[in-house]
Amino acid sequence: MKDRIADSQVPPEAATSAEDNERYGFSRFASHPFFGEVNRWLVERVASLGHRFVDLACGPGAVTELLLQRLMDRGRGLIYAVDPSLSELDRARRRVASGLVEFIQGSAENLSRLVPQVDVVVFCNAIHLIKDKLQVLSEIRKVLRSGGTLAFNTTFFKGCYPPGTERFYRYWILRAAQYLRERGVSVLRAEKSESLEWVTPEEYGALVSAAGFVEPTWRLHEVTLSPESLEDIGQFSLFVRGALPRVPLEIGADALAQAVRVAMRDAGIQGGVPRFWLQFIARTQA
Ligand SMILES: C[S@@+](CC[C@H](N)C(=O)[O-])C[C@H]1O[C@@H](n2cnc3c(N)ncnc32)[C@H](O)[C@@H]1O
Repeated sequence: MKDRIADSQVPPEAATSAEDNERYGFSRFASHPFFGEVNRWLVERVASLGHRFVDLACGPGAVTELLLQRLMDRGRGLIYAVDPSLSELDRARRRVASGLVEFIQGSAENLSRLVPQVDVVVFCNAIHLIKDKLQVLSEIRKVLRSGGTLAFNTTFFKGCYPPGTERFYRYWILRAAQYLRERGVSVLRAEKSESLEWVTPEEYGALVSAAGFVEPTWRLHEVTLSPESLEDIGQFSLFVRGALPRVPLEIGADALAQAVRVAMRDAGIQGGVPRFWLQFIARTQA
């Protein structure tokens, strides 16, 4: 297994302690079964379309592991697993120990300087974090061979709320803000522009076409988020920063965790909160 540190842009997260990285990483949310299901759905549609893969924004390696299982079934292949976060790469490295995976520290914005040409780029649960999506999609196109495939998914897009569920999120933030105010912590209104960049599936279609991809196809994949999974996503540092801008991570995560079940009751939702994942596939010209 080889590792490279190829990007000088180390995220602020890299400066926090290993203990914090463990608590505020993505692994807890990623361990819920529905999360494996949505990623497996996408991976299964593209895993047979080549031998050389990029797992872009690999995080703790859940998708890398799914891809690797498919490659091992065939006995060959190579995955470049790319992420800017050293702690997430570290977790991925511990989870996926194989000579078929090369871990690379770096950002999607610089992808063409990080990896050679590949057959497939898989980009799960991260495109909403990208400010300049057209630039990153163009970088992805540069590293794909002709007739190559891009597959991405996200649950942070315009249209992710099945009817009647959006109010849960409003109550969630309201209840978390109330918890913080009671403890003397002031809360700013979350502006999407400073946290997550949400667009519609049709806008993603226009962006991938503008970046030179063809045959874009997408579908909505409905899952039910259990209260436990919502509590876990409420511990993920990038989620806390997006939902409660400029609130210290520890108390922000506490506020989100304790507010989940109260907000479900406020919204009249029992059991779990339905939500759509956007599954998107496009190709480069053959
Ligand atoms: C929610 S996790 C997704 C991890 C994995 N793809 C999965 O689905 O399990 C998002 C990941 O995106 C990474 N990330 C954030 N900004 C990025 C960027 N500009 N380029 C590449 N990765 C980025 C984060 O470090 C984090 O590991």
